[in-house]
Amino acid sequence: MSVIELIKERKSVRSYTGEPLNKELVDSINNYIERLNPPFGAKARIRLISAKTGEQPVKLGTYGVISGATDFLLLIGEKGLMSEAGAGYMFEQAILFCTGLGLGTCWLGGTLKRGDFLTQIRLSGDEELIVISPVGYKREKRTLLDSIMRTGARSDKRKPFGSLFFNGTFEIPLTEADAGNYNTPLEMVRLAPSGSNKQPWRVVMKDGGFHFYYRTGRFSVNDIGIALCHFELTCNELGLNGHFERIADISGSNDVEYIMSWITE
Ligand SMILES: Cc1cc2nc3c(=O)[nH]c(=O)nc-3n(C[C@H](O)[C@H](O)[C@H](O)COP(=O)(O)O)c2cc1C
Repeated sequence: MSVIELIKERKSVRSYTGEPLNKELVDSINNYIERLNPPFGAKARIRLISAKTGEQPVKLGTYGVISGATDFLLLIGEKGLMSEAGAGYMFEQAILFCTGLGLGTCWLGGTLKRGDFLTQIRLSGDEELIVISPVGYKREKRTLLDSIMRTGARSDKRKPFGSLFFNGTFEIPLTEADAGNYNTPLEMVRLAPSGSNKQPWRVVMKDGGFHFYYRTGRFSVNDIGIALCHFELTCNELGLNGHFERIADISGSNDVEYIMSWITE
C-alpha cells in the first residue's frame, strides 16, 4: 500500500476482538521495528509486548479506554526536543506499517497505567517510556467509550488547510493551489493524529522551504514528529526531493515554537 493510502486509512482504534496477534504478524512487526532507526539523532526504540504470553496474563491498564487489546507497541526514548520528535517520527512509521497489515492502533500518551507497562521492559540510562499503542484485530463495532472518546476529541475533523499552513508569513493562509506539488505532503500532515486532536503543527512556505512550527502543549513534540514523518514519507513517495534541516536563525513566533525546515532540492 502507498503511504498516502496508509495515512488516509489509519484511524485510532480503541475496540479490539481480544484475540492475540498470530505468530506471523508478531514476527513481521518485530522484523520491521528492529530495522527502524529514529531520525534527527534521536535515541529511541520500539518494543512489542503481549499481555498473554507467559503463564500468567499480565495486566496492562488503559483506564478502560482500550478494550480487548492484548498486544502493545511501546516507544522508549530519551527526553529532549529532537529526540522526542525523532521518536515520534519512528513510532508513526511503525503505526503505518501495522495499518498496512490491516491492524488497529491508537497512540496513547495519557490514558495508560505507566506502572503496568514499565514492569514489562527494562529502561537504561536516560530512557523513558514515551507512549504506547495497542496493536490488534479491530472489533467491528466500536465500544461506547471508543465512540465517546472520538466525539470528545472531534477525531473525524481536522482544521482547514489555510489555518495550519501559511504563505511567507503567519498572516497569509496558504492555498492548496499555491502549495503546488506540496499540496499532498501538507494534506498528509493535516490528516495526522495528534494528542486530543489538537493539531498543533503549523507550516510556513517561504524561499523554497517549508518551515515547521508547533503550538506548545502536552503532546506537541510527539505530534510534530508524526507530522514530519507524514510529510517526508509522502515527499519520498511523490519523488519530491529535499531534506530536513534545523536553521539556526529561525525562532518561534507568538505562540509557536520552530522545529525544523524542509529544504527542497
Ligand atoms: C501523542 C498522542 C497521544 C495520544 N494520547 C491518547 C490517549 O492518551 N488516549 C486516547 O484515547 N487517545 C490518545 N491519542 C489519540 C488522539 O485522540 C487521536 O489521534 C485524535 O483524536 C485523532 O483521531 P484519529 O487518530 O482517529 O485520526 C493520542 C494521539 C497522539 C498523537
